[in-house]
This record gives sequence, C-alpha cells and structure tokens, in this order.
Amino acid sequence: MTITNVKSLKTAQSYINGEWISSDRKTKPIKSPYSGEVIGEQFLATDQDVENALACVYSAKKDIAEIPTFKRAKILKKASSLLEQEKERFAKLISLELGKPLKNTLDEVSRSIETLELSAEEAKRLFGETMPGDVSERGANAFAATFRVPVGVVAAITPFNAPLNLICHKIGPAFAGGNSVILKPASQTTLIATELLKLLLEAGLPKNAINMVIGSGGIGQKIVKDERTNVISFTGGVIAGRNICETAGMKKVLLELGGNASTIVHEDADLERAATLCAKTGYSNSGQSCISVQRIYVHQSVVEPFTQLLKQEVSKIKIGDPLSSDTDIGSVVDEKTAERIIDWVDEAVTLGAELIHGGKRNGATVEPTVLLNPPKKSKVVCDEVFGPVVSIIPYETIDEAINETNDSSFGLQAGLFTNQMDLAYKVAHSLEAGGVVINGTSNFRLDHWPYGGIKDSGIGREGPRYAIQEMTEMKMLVFQNLLQ
Ligand code: SIN
Repeated sequence: MTITNVKSLKTAQSYINGEWISSDRKTKPIKSPYSGEVIGEQFLATDQDVENALACVYSAKKDIAEIPTFKRAKILKKASSLLEQEKERFAKLISLELGKPLKNTLDEVSRSIETLELSAEEAKRLFGETMPGDVSERGANAFAATFRVPVGVVAAITPFNAPLNLICHKIGPAFAGGNSVILKPASQTTLIATELLKLLLEAGLPKNAINMVIGSGGIGQKIVKDERTNVISFTGGVIAGRNICETAGMKKVLLELGGNASTIVHEDADLERAATLCAKTGYSNSGQSCISVQRIYVHQSVVEPFTQLLKQEVSKIKIGDPLSSDTDIGSVVDEKTAERIIDWVDEAVTLGAELIHGGKRNGATVEPTVLLNPPKKSKVVCDEVFGPVVSIIPYETIDEAINETNDSSFGLQAGLFTNQMDLAYKVAHSLEAGGVVINGTSNFRLDHWPYGGIKDSGIGREGPRYAIQEMTEMKMLVFQNLLQ
C-alpha cells in the first residue's frame, strides 16, 4: 500500500471561536516516530488562546443545549458517515503520526465510525422516570418526573494511543448530551485531532460547540481548574489523573487511567487459542493500550507448552513500516519511551526473569518481547509497561492467580481461559477489575460496552450510553396539588 494524500497534511492548529489559529504562534515540528522524518508542524496555543477558547465554549453552552436532539443526532451520524468515506486517509495519518501499523489504525477508524454512530443513537435515549408521590403520606396528589440535562461544558483531555477513537468517545457523548466541548488532544497526535475536527465541522457541528487547544500539559491544568468547565473527561496516566482530581475540586471527573492487565490461562484452557489471542492482543499497537495483555498467569502444568506456543506466535509478528499493510508492529510513540521499555526488560532479566523472545530496540521500535517468571517487584509486573512486553508467570492454584492479579494498584480489565463454568464465575467474581473477559484476554473492548476501571485505573465508565450519563445531570420536575 502506498502513502497518498497524507504527506500534504502538515499543520496542526488550535481551533478557537470558529477560527484556526496559527499566525504569530510558537511552532514545534511533528516527527514520525518510526522514521524520525519531520512530517508537519504544530502551532502552540498561548494562555490568551486558552482563555478565548474557554470563554467561547462557556458562552455557547446555552445555544448548544437548545439544539433539538434529532439535530444533534443527525450531525453525529453525518460525521460517522463522512469518516467512513475517509477511512483510509485517517488510518494512514494515524500510522504516520503515531507509528501504529495500518492493520491497527484501520481497525481504530472502524471503531471511531461506530463510536460516533452509537453517540448519535444514544442521544435519542436520554430517558427519565416518573415517580408517584403517594408512597409517602406527604406526597398524596403529587408526582415527579426526571429528565437528563446537559452539564454545560465538557473538557476532553485525550491520549496518543488511540488518538481518533478516544476523542470520539469524549466528543460524541458530550455533544449527544447537549454540551459544548473544549478539547486538548495529546501533543503527539495533533494532526489527527485537527483532521477530525475539520470533519466534525463539515458534518455540521456548530462552530462554537467545540474549541481545541494544542500545547503542553499546563493547558490541561488550566482547563481543569477553570470554573467554566463542568465535567473533566480524561484518558491518560495515573499521575496526571491524580493531579486532575486534586485540581478539579467539586467538578465531576471521568478518568480512564492505566493498567497492568492480567490474563489467566488455566490448566484446562484451549492453549492454542490462548497463545494466539495473547500474541494478538499483547502486541497490537506495540502494547500501547491500557488493557494490553501484560501479565499472563499460567497454570504450572501447562507453562511449558503455553510458552512454546506463545513464542511460536510471537515469532510470526512482523516488525516494519507502520504504513505497510502487512506490518504488525511499528514504533512506540517516541524513542525515549522505547529506551524506558528496554530498561524495564533489562531490570527484569537482572532480577532473574528468563528472556524468551525479543528484548531489543531499534530507534523507537521495540521488539515483541516475552519474559518468563519475572519477580513480583520488577517493573514489568507491578507497573504499566505500555509497550510490547508480555510476562508469563506460573501459578499452582487458581486462588494464587486471583490474588496475584489483584495484588496491583490497577483494576481495569482481566482475562481468563478455562472451560469450567463454575471456575469462570468464581474468578470473574473475585477479580478486582472493571471488566473480566472469559475465554479471551484482557484486551477486548466493544465500543458500546461500559469501559473503565477501579482503584488506580480510574473513575466512571466510557461507552456512549454510560458517558452520556456522566455528561448530563438528572433534573426533577415535581407536580403537586393536581387533583383539587
Ligand atoms: C485504552 O487504552 O484505554 C483504549 C483501549 C481500547 O479502546 O481498546
């Protein structure tokens, strides 16, 4: 597959008060993390730009809330179909800007199309309840009804790893719920954010419904603190998530943070299926997903065949240019991150882990790596790797696998391979996680399902139906004295 129409998309700009901002702003080159080639330029927002963006979305909130539901749904639906038409261009742009292989980015664009469509559909299902009053003696002759109303301004702060779909997961529900949005995309993926915004405007999103500011983390801090933003929806790291909680005060926060996801392979598991899926979902996007398979707890009786099968699968993974259609692993987000990942692998080996596969890097490209038996205190076990590194850890009893999985500050998703229904139920019940996948790995998400974690993995749930609830408030209407 060749690159077409991608290299001409070169500038990432903030969008404020209906205008694309560039003149007199500081610039920063945008480099492809895979090739190191400069592919574009970012124009960085000033403090005054951020102030103007906040003022714009704040003054727009009443107008946006008054757009009838059918119109909001229509705009989101149109955006979804425009994205369908532009699927390949968007996929190539993500591959170029992030180093994520085309196989993964085509999938990400398909998911983004669905996320926008689901948001359009869920906009039409903002239902309430009616409640009789006469359950209380004081409520005879009264009743109440509830409605969902917009919160006002949603601040969306998005990560680099799924730069299109995770913006859609915030803007889609926010607008579906009748809110205006201020978006701060990850500084590594601003070209894709710029192109998505153009597409949303083409679909009919009102100019004042969204403002986007490009720049450093300091901008996010200002947006979180500002009293004109009502809900903060953030996907990213734990440290930033904690800072947001401290800064946001009384605001509602929706946090999708990290994970060191575990998948358990029990003695009765279909080992071939488990190894194939672990290889597929532990290394896609170079492991840069919060639910990427990181720790595989394997029953000691099947460790040897499972390790062989996984090694076999991993050796088929093709490293190469993210823009080639047969590449499985491109680069991670930057060279500094690749260095850090290899340092963690080296630490595990120094502490006694066996290196089964990989363990090296070339620039920002990290080989798919398999470790056997890293000790519990090694970073590849207890921290979030966010890279293509998977560890096999043997266990004797299922309780041990459950306890080891739960002995983590994170709790996003987990997986289990077994054919025993009662064991599946016990494990699912006992694991501390937002979701448990049976006969699959931790890394399986459909975009209409509730997605989010417990402990350091976050607060609240995404998925349009759930995010809209977070981005709207319940309002009650009470009628008294109806029958005279
Ligand atoms: C994430 O990294 O949390 C996104 C995972 C996904 O949407 O598949």
